[in-house]
Amino acid sequence: MSGTVHRAADDLRTARALRVDGARLLSRLEELRRIGGTPDGGVNRVAFTPEDVRGRELVASFMVEAGLDVELDAAGNLIGRRTGRRAAAPTLLMGSHLDTVPHGGALDGAYGVIGAVEVLHTLGEHGVVPWRPMAVIAFTNEEGGLGTRPMWGSHALAGHLGPADLLACDDAGTPVSRLLAGVGGDPARLATAVWPPERLSGYLELHVEQGPVLEHVGAAIGVVQAVTGRVTADVTVRGQANHAGTTPMHLRQDALVGAARVVLAVRELAGDGGLVRVATVGRCAVEPNAWNVVPALVRLRVDLRDVSVAAMRAGLERLRAVAAEVAAATGTDIEVTEGGMVQPAACDPFLQRLVAAAAERVGASHHALPSGAGHDAQVVGTVTRMGMIFVPSRGGISHAAAEWTEPWQLVAGADVLLQTALDFDRALG
Ligand code: HGY
Ligand code: MN
Ligand code: MN
Repeated sequence: MSGTVHRAADDLRTARALRVDGARLLSRLEELRRIGGTPDGGVNRVAFTPEDVRGRELVASFMVEAGLDVELDAAGNLIGRRTGRRAAAPTLLMGSHLDTVPHGGALDGAYGVIGAVEVLHTLGEHGVVPWRPMAVIAFTNEEGGLGTRPMWGSHALAGHLGPADLLACDDAGTPVSRLLAGVGGDPARLATAVWPPERLSGYLELHVEQGPVLEHVGAAIGVVQAVTGRVTADVTVRGQANHAGTTPMHLRQDALVGAARVVLAVRELAGDGGLVRVATVGRCAVEPNAWNVVPALVRLRVDLRDVSVAAMRAGLERLRAVAAEVAAATGTDIEVTEGGMVQPAACDPFLQRLVAAAAERVGASHHALPSGAGHDAQVVGTVTRMGMIFVPSRGGISHAAAEWTEPWQLVAGADVLLQTALDFDRALG
């Protein structure tokens, strides 16, 4: 039908009856899952790896099939555009990311990108032309792959990155500028990836909940109210390498013993009476990591999350104080370096209302909730109004191979994105 019928998106009856092609959505998700797919159903598609590149190439081909104008910007963000009747009007952006955590799931990020491609494909094949341009974006490196700064692509769009971000290195000492060039970005022209606020009319992100709430309340759609803030800190514990058989216990400077105490103290930063909502140490590297050597050095990465910036600051202060106490008690030296803080962000109230109305229209029950995971949406939300749509995660599991959402819920979520986008477009005109 493409190119034969041109209905304006303000033909209300046409617009409201429009639904995505669910079979196409699901088969594209499955095709993408196979890139970096692991036998247990999970996915290893860490940013800047060959799998990441292959995933982007596949999604670029989906964008072409959808009739979009495809571009890779200087920050490596993959963008597919469809124009509107007012071609110069600000763009409604929709998307998420294609990279995964190591041994992650098939839906985190990928669903939001494939869902947005499906929305624009559906508009095109039904000849529905929105008032304003719409685009899908697959942001580079949302997860902080290889130890780099997370939410790279959305930070670039929002104009938050500078030369220091390009000079920063991954765990193996490779500068981010080189990693970026490897996925088709152009470090020298990074500033061209910035979208000034006047180019955007809003941003919508469809995502799996990654938590248990929707399943628990029995709702198919989550109307996201706000996205949590997050701060990371690198903790380096330095001891003295020594012989495991000859060094008396009271003479050791065991970096891993110091690190273990820090890990337990981080857990105490959250929970009942804690300073922050959640606190995690998910990364630990031990040197020399040999069973018969007293550990010399341990690197930990701490992740603290809360809706309050003050709470995260208090958590970091407490972490520094605890580190000093542990260092004194274990004869080690402990350094705490703050990583980037991502601010908590509220979803636009008008977009929240549109998401709820769209869910009702497609016959899906809905529930309002905050997001405990971080999302590109909270970064894009610093330059434009932002909304998020969640679908349930079975067992609340994510960042793991067992991540799963019922196919009908995935289709319903994409329908809600489609209807929300059309309503927003019509409301702005
Ligand atoms: O870690 C997060 O919250 C997100 O999935 N990147
Ligand atoms: Mn994730
Ligand atoms: Mn994600």
